[in-house]
Amino acid sequence: MNKRVLDVLGRGRHSPPPAWLMRQAGRYLPEYRAVREKVPNFLDLVFTPELAAEVTLQPIRRFGFDAAILFSDILVVPHALGQIVTFAAGEGPLLDPLDDRVAFERIAGEVDHGVLAPVYETIRLVKRELDPAVTLLGFCGAPWTVATYMIAGRGTPDQAPARLFGYRDRVGLDTLIDVLVDASASYLVRQLKAGADAVQIFDTWAGVLAPDEFGRWCIEPTRRIAEAVRSEVPGAKIIGFPRGAGTKLAAYADGAGVDAVGLDWMVDRTFASERIQSRLPVQGNLDPLVLLAGGTGLDRAVDAVLEAFTGGPFIFNLGHGILPETPIAHVEQMLRRVRG
Ligand code: CP3
Repeated sequence: MNKRVLDVLGRGRHSPPPAWLMRQAGRYLPEYRAVREKVPNFLDLVFTPELAAEVTLQPIRRFGFDAAILFSDILVVPHALGQIVTFAAGEGPLLDPLDDRVAFERIAGEVDHGVLAPVYETIRLVKRELDPAVTLLGFCGAPWTVATYMIAGRGTPDQAPARLFGYRDRVGLDTLIDVLVDASASYLVRQLKAGADAVQIFDTWAGVLAPDEFGRWCIEPTRRIAEAVRSEVPGAKIIGFPRGAGTKLAAYADGAGVDAVGLDWMVDRTFASERIQSRLPVQGNLDPLVLLAGGTGLDRAVDAVLEAFTGGPFIFNLGHGILPETPIAHVEQMLRRVRG
Protein backbone atom coordinates (compact mmCIF):
# COMPACT_ATOMS: atom_id res chain seq x y z
CA MET A 1 0.00 0.00 0.00
CA ASN A 2 1.43 3.39 -0.90
CA LYS A 3 -0.39 5.53 1.66
CA ARG A 4 1.99 5.28 4.61
CA VAL A 5 -0.25 6.75 7.29
CA LEU A 6 -3.11 4.46 6.31
CA ASP A 7 -0.70 1.55 6.26
CA VAL A 8 0.40 2.27 9.86
CA LEU A 9 -3.26 2.37 10.91
CA GLY A 10 -3.40 -1.21 9.62
CA ARG A 11 -0.39 -1.97 11.88
CA GLY A 12 2.32 -1.52 9.25
CA ARG A 13 5.74 -0.20 10.26
CA HIS A 14 7.78 2.41 8.45
CA SER A 15 11.21 3.81 9.03
CA PRO A 16 11.37 6.77 9.01
CA PRO A 17 7.79 7.03 10.27
CA PRO A 18 5.19 8.96 8.30
CA ALA A 19 4.52 12.42 9.72
CA TRP A 20 1.78 15.05 9.85
CA LEU A 21 0.83 17.67 12.45
CA MET A 22 -2.43 18.32 14.21
CA ARG A 23 -3.79 21.73 13.17
CA GLN A 24 -1.21 21.81 10.36
CA ALA A 25 -3.41 24.15 8.30
CA GLY A 26 -3.49 27.38 10.24
CA ARG A 27 -2.18 30.75 11.25
CA TYR A 28 1.54 29.86 11.44
CA LEU A 29 1.41 29.72 7.61
CA PRO A 30 1.47 33.06 5.72
CA GLU A 31 -0.44 31.42 2.84
CA TYR A 32 -3.20 30.46 5.31
CA ARG A 33 -3.38 33.99 6.69
CA ALA A 34 -3.70 35.32 3.13
CA VAL A 35 -6.73 33.11 2.43
CA ARG A 36 -8.19 33.76 5.88
CA GLU A 37 -8.15 37.52 5.17
CA LYS A 38 -10.48 37.03 2.22
CA VAL A 39 -13.41 36.01 4.42
CA PRO A 40 -14.89 37.89 7.36
CA ASN A 41 -15.75 34.83 9.42
CA PHE A 42 -13.91 31.62 10.13
CA LEU A 43 -17.00 29.54 9.32
CA ASP A 44 -17.14 31.14 5.85
CA LEU A 45 -13.72 29.64 5.24
CA VAL A 46 -14.87 26.23 6.49
CA PHE A 47 -18.06 26.30 4.37
CA THR A 48 -16.48 27.53 1.11
CA PRO A 49 -15.17 24.29 -0.44
CA GLU A 50 -12.67 25.91 -2.83
CA LEU A 51 -11.04 27.88 0.00
CA ALA A 52 -11.19 25.04 2.54
CA ALA A 53 -9.64 22.68 -0.01
CA GLU A 54 -6.90 25.21 -0.74
CA VAL A 55 -5.91 25.59 2.94
CA THR A 56 -6.09 21.81 3.45
CA LEU A 57 -3.51 21.40 0.68
CA GLN A 58 -1.19 24.26 1.69
CA PRO A 59 0.83 22.38 4.35
CA ILE A 60 1.15 19.36 2.04
CA ARG A 61 2.64 21.48 -0.72
CA ARG A 62 5.01 23.27 1.64
CA PHE A 63 6.22 20.37 3.80
CA GLY A 64 5.25 17.15 2.01
CA PHE A 65 3.41 15.76 5.04
CA ASP A 66 2.17 12.17 4.74
CA ALA A 67 -1.40 13.11 5.67
CA ALA A 68 -3.70 15.99 4.83
CA ILE A 69 -6.39 16.76 7.39
CA LEU A 70 -9.65 18.21 6.17
CA PHE A 71 -9.91 21.90 6.99
CA SER A 72 -12.99 22.29 9.16
CA ASP A 73 -13.67 22.51 12.89
CA ILE A 74 -15.15 20.24 15.53
CA LEU A 75 -17.81 22.88 16.27
CA VAL A 76 -19.54 22.55 12.89
CA VAL A 77 -21.51 19.69 14.47
CA PRO A 78 -23.26 21.85 17.10
CA HIS A 79 -23.73 24.43 14.33
CA ALA A 80 -25.48 21.77 12.20
CA LEU A 81 -27.57 20.83 15.24
CA GLY A 82 -28.91 24.38 15.32
CA GLN A 83 -26.77 25.95 18.05
CA ILE A 84 -25.41 29.40 17.23
CA VAL A 85 -21.60 29.16 16.84
CA THR A 86 -19.34 32.12 16.11
CA PHE A 87 -15.58 32.58 16.15
CA ALA A 88 -14.64 35.96 17.54
CA ALA A 89 -11.19 37.17 16.47
CA GLY A 90 -8.65 36.50 19.20
CA GLU A 91 -11.27 34.96 21.49
CA GLY A 92 -11.87 31.49 20.11
CA PRO A 93 -15.28 29.95 19.66
CA LEU A 94 -18.43 31.39 21.21
CA LEU A 95 -21.66 29.42 21.39
CA ASP A 96 -25.03 30.19 22.85
CA PRO A 97 -24.51 28.12 26.07
CA LEU A 98 -26.80 25.20 26.90
CA ASP A 99 -26.79 25.75 30.62
CA ASP A 100 -29.78 23.63 31.53
CA ARG A 101 -31.93 20.89 30.14
CA VAL A 102 -34.54 23.38 28.92
CA ALA A 103 -31.87 24.88 26.70
CA PHE A 104 -31.41 21.45 25.07
CA GLU A 105 -34.84 21.91 23.50
CA ARG A 106 -33.37 24.70 21.39
CA ILE A 107 -31.11 22.30 19.52
CA ALA A 108 -32.34 19.77 17.03
CA GLY A 109 -32.04 16.06 17.69
CA GLU A 110 -30.43 15.44 14.32
CA VAL A 111 -27.73 17.13 12.31
CA ASP A 112 -28.73 18.98 9.19
CA HIS A 113 -26.40 17.43 6.62
CA GLY A 114 -27.39 20.18 4.21
CA VAL A 115 -25.44 22.59 6.43
CA LEU A 116 -22.45 20.21 6.33
CA ALA A 117 -22.64 19.52 2.58
CA PRO A 118 -19.80 22.00 1.80
CA VAL A 119 -17.50 19.97 4.09
CA TYR A 120 -18.16 16.83 2.06
CA GLU A 121 -17.55 18.83 -1.12
CA THR A 122 -14.21 20.02 0.29
CA ILE A 123 -13.17 16.38 0.71
CA ARG A 124 -14.08 15.62 -2.89
CA LEU A 125 -12.08 18.64 -4.13
CA VAL A 126 -9.02 17.76 -2.02
CA LYS A 127 -9.17 14.14 -3.11
CA ARG A 128 -9.01 15.19 -6.73
CA GLU A 129 -5.76 17.12 -6.24
CA LEU A 130 -4.02 15.13 -3.56
CA ASP A 131 -1.04 12.91 -4.34
CA PRO A 132 -2.39 9.35 -3.92
CA ALA A 133 0.48 8.57 -1.52
CA VAL A 134 -0.89 11.13 0.95
CA THR A 135 -3.59 9.94 3.34
CA LEU A 136 -6.65 12.18 3.56
CA LEU A 137 -7.98 12.40 7.10
CA GLY A 138 -11.45 13.49 8.09
CA PHE A 139 -12.30 14.24 11.71
CA CYS A 140 -14.83 15.15 14.33
CA GLY A 141 -14.73 16.14 17.96
CA ALA A 142 -15.55 13.42 20.47
CA PRO A 143 -19.01 13.85 22.07
CA TRP A 144 -17.57 14.81 25.47
CA THR A 145 -15.28 17.51 24.06
CA VAL A 146 -18.00 18.94 21.81
CA ALA A 147 -20.46 18.85 24.74
CA THR A 148 -18.03 20.87 26.89
CA TYR A 149 -18.14 23.73 24.37
CA MET A 150 -21.90 23.41 23.88
CA ILE A 151 -22.54 23.67 27.61
CA ALA A 152 -19.99 26.35 28.54
CA GLY A 153 -20.41 28.25 25.28
CA ARG A 154 -16.62 28.63 25.07
CA GLY A 155 -13.33 27.07 26.04
CA THR A 156 -12.47 27.35 29.75
CA PRO A 157 -9.30 26.23 31.60
CA ASP A 158 -10.75 22.89 32.75
CA GLN A 159 -14.24 22.84 31.23
CA ALA A 160 -15.79 23.06 34.70
CA PRO A 161 -19.29 24.02 33.43
CA ALA A 162 -19.74 20.70 31.60
CA ARG A 163 -18.34 18.69 34.49
CA LEU A 164 -20.65 20.45 36.89
CA PHE A 165 -23.56 19.86 34.54
CA GLY A 166 -22.73 16.14 34.49
CA TYR A 167 -22.62 15.90 38.29
CA ARG A 168 -25.92 17.74 38.66
CA ASP A 169 -27.79 16.09 35.81
CA ARG A 170 -26.16 12.84 34.73
CA VAL A 171 -29.11 11.75 32.59
CA GLY A 172 -29.27 15.18 30.97
CA LEU A 173 -25.63 14.94 29.91
CA ASP A 174 -26.21 11.37 28.70
CA THR A 175 -28.97 12.72 26.46
CA LEU A 176 -26.68 15.32 24.91
CA ILE A 177 -23.89 12.74 24.46
CA ASP A 178 -26.35 10.40 22.72
CA VAL A 179 -27.32 13.13 20.25
CA LEU A 180 -23.63 13.77 19.59
CA VAL A 181 -22.80 10.08 19.12
CA ASP A 182 -25.40 9.82 16.35
CA ALA A 183 -24.46 13.17 14.82
CA SER A 184 -20.72 12.40 14.85
CA ALA A 185 -21.13 8.91 13.42
CA SER A 186 -23.28 10.10 10.52
CA TYR A 187 -20.87 13.00 9.93
CA LEU A 188 -17.84 10.66 9.79
CA VAL A 189 -19.64 8.17 7.55
CA ARG A 190 -20.34 10.94 5.05
CA GLN A 191 -16.73 12.12 5.19
CA LEU A 192 -15.50 8.60 4.47
CA LYS A 193 -17.99 8.16 1.64
CA ALA A 194 -16.84 11.50 0.17
CA GLY A 195 -13.26 10.20 0.04
CA ALA A 196 -11.57 10.50 3.44
CA ASP A 197 -9.15 7.57 3.85
CA ALA A 198 -9.44 7.50 7.65
CA VAL A 199 -10.79 9.71 10.43
CA GLN A 200 -9.61 11.08 13.75
CA ILE A 201 -11.79 11.68 16.80
CA PHE A 202 -10.43 14.63 18.83
CA ASP A 203 -11.18 14.29 22.54
CA THR A 204 -9.23 17.37 23.57
CA TRP A 205 -10.89 17.55 27.00
CA ALA A 206 -10.84 13.82 27.89
CA GLY A 207 -8.23 14.51 30.57
CA VAL A 208 -10.49 16.64 32.78
CA LEU A 209 -12.91 13.75 33.36
CA ALA A 210 -12.63 12.01 36.72
CA PRO A 211 -11.92 8.26 36.46
CA ASP A 212 -15.54 7.33 37.24
CA GLU A 213 -16.83 9.42 34.36
CA PHE A 214 -14.08 8.62 31.85
CA GLY A 215 -15.66 5.32 30.78
CA ARG A 216 -19.14 6.76 30.52
CA TRP A 217 -18.40 9.97 28.63
CA CYS A 218 -15.15 9.29 26.79
CA ILE A 219 -14.62 5.57 26.08
CA GLU A 220 -18.22 4.44 25.63
CA PRO A 221 -19.38 7.19 23.23
CA THR A 222 -16.22 6.72 21.15
CA ARG A 223 -16.85 2.96 21.00
CA ARG A 224 -20.42 3.56 19.85
CA ILE A 225 -19.26 5.95 17.12
CA ALA A 226 -16.62 3.47 15.93
CA GLU A 227 -19.21 0.69 15.79
CA ALA A 228 -21.78 2.83 13.95
CA VAL A 229 -19.18 4.05 11.44
CA ARG A 230 -17.92 0.54 10.70
CA SER A 231 -21.45 -0.78 10.27
CA GLU A 232 -21.76 1.56 7.28
CA VAL A 233 -18.13 1.68 6.14
CA PRO A 234 -16.67 -1.74 6.94
CA GLY A 235 -13.01 -1.60 7.91
CA ALA A 236 -13.02 2.19 8.36
CA LYS A 237 -9.83 3.26 10.12
CA ILE A 238 -10.22 5.49 13.18
CA ILE A 239 -7.61 7.32 15.26
CA GLY A 240 -8.69 8.31 18.78
CA PHE A 241 -6.99 11.21 20.56
CA PRO A 242 -8.04 11.42 24.23
CA ARG A 243 -5.79 14.28 25.32
CA GLY A 244 -4.68 14.18 28.93
CA ALA A 245 -5.97 10.65 29.59
CA GLY A 246 -2.73 9.54 31.29
CA THR A 247 -2.94 5.97 32.58
CA LYS A 248 -6.62 5.88 31.57
CA LEU A 249 -5.23 5.45 28.04
CA ALA A 250 -4.98 1.73 28.78
CA ALA A 251 -8.74 1.37 29.25
CA TYR A 252 -9.29 3.65 26.25
CA ALA A 253 -7.05 1.56 23.98
CA ASP A 254 -8.82 -1.62 25.11
CA GLY A 255 -12.37 -0.31 25.01
CA ALA A 256 -12.85 2.61 22.61
CA GLY A 257 -12.72 0.52 19.44
CA VAL A 258 -10.17 2.75 17.72
CA ASP A 259 -7.44 1.51 15.36
CA ALA A 260 -4.75 3.84 16.71
CA VAL A 261 -4.24 6.09 19.70
CA GLY A 262 -3.01 9.69 19.58
CA LEU A 263 -0.61 10.45 22.45
CA ASP A 264 -0.36 13.90 24.01
CA TRP A 265 3.03 15.28 25.10
CA MET A 266 2.40 14.64 28.81
CA VAL A 267 2.12 10.85 28.71
CA ASP A 268 4.88 8.66 30.09
CA ARG A 269 6.58 7.23 27.00
CA THR A 270 7.63 3.94 28.58
CA PHE A 271 4.04 3.33 29.67
CA ALA A 272 2.72 4.35 26.24
CA SER A 273 5.12 2.07 24.41
CA GLU A 274 4.72 -0.95 26.70
CA ARG A 275 1.02 -0.74 27.41
CA ILE A 276 -0.48 1.01 24.35
CA GLN A 277 1.80 0.55 21.35
CA SER A 278 2.19 -3.14 22.16
CA ARG A 279 -1.49 -3.46 21.19
CA LEU A 280 -2.28 -0.60 18.82
CA PRO A 281 -0.42 1.81 16.53
CA VAL A 282 0.30 5.15 18.19
CA GLN A 283 0.62 8.71 16.93
CA GLY A 284 2.31 11.70 18.55
CA ASN A 285 3.71 13.06 20.79
CA LEU A 286 6.11 16.01 20.45
CA ASP A 287 5.28 18.95 22.72
CA PRO A 288 4.00 21.81 20.51
CA LEU A 289 5.95 24.20 22.75
CA VAL A 290 9.31 22.55 22.02
CA LEU A 291 8.51 22.95 18.32
CA LEU A 292 7.86 26.62 18.99
CA ALA A 293 11.12 26.93 20.97
CA GLY A 294 13.33 25.20 18.36
CA GLY A 295 17.11 24.90 18.77
CA THR A 296 18.98 21.87 20.05
CA GLY A 297 16.14 21.22 22.51
CA LEU A 298 13.90 20.50 19.54
CA ASP A 299 16.39 17.99 18.10
CA ARG A 300 16.66 16.25 21.46
CA ALA A 301 12.89 16.09 21.86
CA VAL A 302 12.37 14.69 18.34
CA ASP A 303 15.03 12.05 19.01
CA ALA A 304 13.32 11.05 22.27
CA VAL A 305 9.98 10.57 20.49
CA LEU A 306 11.60 8.53 17.71
CA GLU A 307 13.55 6.41 20.15
CA ALA A 308 10.45 5.59 22.17
CA PHE A 309 8.14 4.66 19.32
CA THR A 310 9.90 3.66 16.10
CA GLY A 311 10.08 0.03 17.27
CA GLY A 312 6.36 -0.42 16.50
CA PRO A 313 3.63 1.00 14.28
CA PHE A 314 4.01 4.76 14.64
CA ILE A 315 2.94 8.04 13.05
CA PHE A 316 5.04 11.06 14.00
CA ASN A 317 2.93 14.03 15.14
CA LEU A 318 2.63 16.61 17.88
CA GLY A 319 1.02 15.92 21.24
CA HIS A 320 -1.56 18.65 20.45
CA GLY A 321 -2.11 21.25 17.72
CA ILE A 322 0.68 23.42 16.33
CA LEU A 323 0.74 26.90 17.87
CA PRO A 324 0.16 29.94 15.64
CA GLU A 325 3.49 31.52 16.69
CA THR A 326 5.54 28.50 15.51
CA PRO A 327 8.32 29.48 13.07
CA ILE A 328 8.19 27.61 9.76
CA ALA A 329 11.95 26.97 10.01
CA HIS A 330 11.32 24.90 13.14
CA VAL A 331 8.83 22.68 11.30
CA GLU A 332 11.47 22.17 8.58
CA GLN A 333 14.12 21.36 11.17
CA MET A 334 11.79 18.85 12.82
CA LEU A 335 11.01 17.12 9.53
CA ARG A 336 14.69 16.87 8.56
CA ARG A 337 15.36 15.19 11.91
CA VAL A 338 12.42 12.77 11.54
CA ARG A 339 13.28 11.89 7.96
CA GLY A 340 16.96 11.38 8.82
O1 CP3 B 1 -5.78 20.29 11.83
C1 CP3 B 1 -6.08 21.04 10.87
O2 CP3 B 1 -5.23 21.70 10.25
C2 CP3 B 1 -7.51 21.06 10.40
C3 CP3 B 1 -8.35 22.04 10.95
C4 CP3 B 1 -8.82 22.05 12.39
C5 CP3 B 1 -9.26 23.27 12.99
N1 CP3 B 1 -9.77 22.98 14.21
C6 CP3 B 1 -9.18 24.60 12.35
C7 CP3 B 1 -9.24 25.81 13.19
C8 CP3 B 1 -9.02 21.03 13.32
C9 CP3 B 1 -8.68 19.55 13.24
C10 CP3 B 1 -9.64 21.63 14.47
C11 CP3 B 1 -10.05 20.87 15.67
C12 CP3 B 1 -10.52 21.58 16.85
N2 CP3 B 1 -11.24 22.73 16.92
C13 CP3 B 1 -10.34 21.08 18.18
C14 CP3 B 1 -9.68 19.78 18.57
C15 CP3 B 1 -8.22 19.85 18.52
C16 CP3 B 1 -7.59 20.87 19.42
O3 CP3 B 1 -6.89 21.74 18.90
O4 CP3 B 1 -7.80 20.76 20.64
C17 CP3 B 1 -10.95 22.03 19.04
C18 CP3 B 1 -11.00 21.95 20.56
C19 CP3 B 1 -11.52 23.06 18.23
C20 CP3 B 1 -12.31 24.23 18.69
C21 CP3 B 1 -11.66 25.49 18.30
N3 CP3 B 1 -11.63 26.02 17.02
C22 CP3 B 1 -10.96 26.38 19.15
C23 CP3 B 1 -10.75 26.19 20.64
C24 CP3 B 1 -10.53 27.44 18.35
C25 CP3 B 1 -9.84 28.69 18.82
C26 CP3 B 1 -8.43 28.47 19.15
C27 CP3 B 1 -7.60 28.84 17.97
O5 CP3 B 1 -6.70 28.06 17.64
O6 CP3 B 1 -7.87 29.91 17.43
C28 CP3 B 1 -10.92 27.18 17.01
C29 CP3 B 1 -10.66 27.99 15.81
C30 CP3 B 1 -9.89 27.35 14.70
N4 CP3 B 1 -10.10 26.08 14.21
C31 CP3 B 1 -8.83 27.94 13.96
C32 CP3 B 1 -8.42 26.97 13.01
C33 CP3 B 1 -7.34 27.13 11.97
C34 CP3 B 1 -8.30 29.34 14.14
C35 CP3 B 1 -9.28 30.38 13.65
C36 CP3 B 1 -8.79 31.29 12.55
O7 CP3 B 1 -7.92 30.93 11.74
O8 CP3 B 1 -9.32 32.40 12.48
